[in-house]
Amino acid sequence: MAETNEKMSAIADKLLIGHFHRHVFLCVGDSCCAAIGKESAQAAWDKLKGELKDRELSLAAGPTACYRTKVGCMRICTGGPILVVYPEGTWYAGMTADRIPRFVQEHLIDGKPIEEWIFARNPLPRS
Ligand code: FES
Repeated sequence: MAETNEKMSAIADKLLIGHFHRHVFLCVGDSCCAAIGKESAQAAWDKLKGELKDRELSLAAGPTACYRTKVGCMRICTGGPILVVYPEGTWYAGMTADRIPRFVQEHLIDGKPIEEWIFARNPLPRS
């Protein structure tokens, strides 16, 4: 078990876990993305990955450092792709690939959430 924990700690170190200021989850599940289809949902995820990498937010340690996770359902199941950002707890709907660059710039870099795309909020306390 100790060996497994060491291995996992090494992976976490490599991913710079412990340095992130935000975590973005994007749902590409069949239910919320039914209207746009699997390919468009995957395109949104690919765009998010690419933007975070190109803008140096991913695998970074600065104040805009951001971790990303693709998920299969966040229980909204309509109007997807659904995207949530923590610790702000900002829930976005309709986050197709064309919206991702503006989201990365305005929310993740400038710190200004895009009000017209937000449908719910659940901020977490900062520790
Ligand atoms: S399938 Fe995306 S929220 Fe349920």
